[in-house]
Amino acid sequence: MQILRDIPALRTAIAALRADGKPLALVPTMGALHEGHMALVDEARRHGRHVVVSIFVNPKQFAPTEDLDAYPRREAKDAAMLTAAGVNLLWAPGVDIMYPAGFASTISVSGVSDGLDGAARPGHFDGVATVVTKLFNQVCPDVAIFGEKDYQQLAVIRRMVADLDMPIDIVGVPTQRAEDGLALSSRNAYLNEAERKAALALPRALGEAKRQMEKGEAVEGALAKAIAILTTHGFDPVDYVTLCDAATLEPITVLDRPARLLGAARLGRTRLIDNVAVHPA
Ligand code: PAF
Repeated sequence: MQILRDIPALRTAIAALRADGKPLALVPTMGALHEGHMALVDEARRHGRHVVVSIFVNPKQFAPTEDLDAYPRREAKDAAMLTAAGVNLLWAPGVDIMYPAGFASTISVSGVSDGLDGAARPGHFDGVATVVTKLFNQVCPDVAIFGEKDYQQLAVIRRMVADLDMPIDIVGVPTQRAEDGLALSSRNAYLNEAERKAALALPRALGEAKRQMEKGEAVEGALAKAIAILTTHGFDPVDYVTLCDAATLEPITVLDRPARLLGAARLGRTRLIDNVAVHPA
């Protein structure tokens, strides 16, 4: 596997990969790879595609109060996992390559970016949309793979690609979970033993609310119970537990269409997010 850090070398390598006419898939990541990321790589490799993985901890999607400095970085281990998985190329630019002096552009996707994590983390999705646009322009993939764990991010990217006529298929991969149900996340590494146990309340609260709503219970009551479960298990604050239209992410109060239940809450210093599909009867 080649590891590249500058754009001219990347362009040469991509041209060489493309010479055999096979499609190219990009898996954008911030590193600290786990089985969730490797499921994205598995999806990328389907249909004989070449696979490029990017690792870039994007400062533009972290607020000044967030965990940019603490965010886990372990490129050597990541590279070994990607090599073993048959990835062709690791694109690992530095901040100076991604955002050279004078960089002044922002991609902003209104509507779908505004609520949920967009409200809890102002500017976050501008940072994501900007870096993903740059990654798309650098790698020029045919397909890009994202996890459903970051469901709002996936919706923002789908909207952006449609709005800006980007010729890239966006593929979402279901959330990978530990055996006990916790969604895999690089940030789970921050949890101590007691928090790791308490963290299970998040998928359980969402799962319980999903069952209640699918049985016909009122949305408002089911959401209130989920929030109460989280609070009881020490989550503070609960940023949101919200039922949304599955495509637009507009909040809904009646389960009358395909929906997504999304939750975000903080346990100690760790902010966890999760989501599940909710189907109308
Ligand atoms: O999901 C992530 O890891 C990041 O938000 C992404 C898409 C790589 C952009 O920095």
